[in-house]
Amino acid sequence: MAIKVTWYGHAAFLIETKGTKLLIDPFLTGNPLAPVSADEVEADYILVSHGHGDHIGDTVAIAKRTGATVISNFEIQNWLVAQGVQNAHPQHIGGGYEYPWGRVKLTIAQHGSALPDGSYGGNPAGFLLYVEGKKIYHACDTGLFYDMKLIGEEGIDLAILPIGDNFTMGPDDALRAVKLIEPRLVIPIHYNTFDVIRQDPEAWARRVESETDARVKVMKPGETIEL
Ligand code: NI
Ligand code: MN
Repeated sequence: MAIKVTWYGHAAFLIETKGTKLLIDPFLTGNPLAPVSADEVEADYILVSHGHGDHIGDTVAIAKRTGATVISNFEIQNWLVAQGVQNAHPQHIGGGYEYPWGRVKLTIAQHGSALPDGSYGGNPAGFLLYVEGKKIYHACDTGLFYDMKLIGEEGIDLAILPIGDNFTMGPDDALRAVKLIEPRLVIPIHYNTFDVIRQDPEAWARRVESETDARVKVMKPGETIEL
């Protein structure tokens, strides 16, 4: 069965594997690119990379409505439980866990993680997903770091990388990231949501495809691809 990957704009994705819905960084309310609302989106699990509002987003409301299990670092878990979220599975950087549908490992990310109310959100993370024999790396918010090469040694089928600049890697560093990771397919994210992260993803895709062996998929919000 193919894995379905749907972009909800910014860093938000729905990944469907064997009937399980994994929602990543569900920033829907206030996201001008979001093709679904927090009231209607479905989720069995919600993965939260860090505490910033454009990533934790609508997690509390969606988790309460759907009963989804939230996966994130320990500090964010404590905060979510205090907000009334029932099902939470804490992990931390470098640690992996086997869920019924696949494995999730938290990777490092060079960024911040304060929660919307100023609470301490621990360290930010990226996600390495092992589902249906495929490896997906969602870098979430990060600057370029050389250990991306270690992540690439896993043999990445799909890398989801920020290209927006200002808050994360920009196009030049994201291209260097592709050279370190050597994924088969790349999806650029975290651009054009706000004016300060305006980029041309098609121009970036042409650079990546001319300088590396990776293919680039520039997605439209709401679009689904199969892996
Ligand atoms: Ni952030
Ligand atoms: Mn962000």
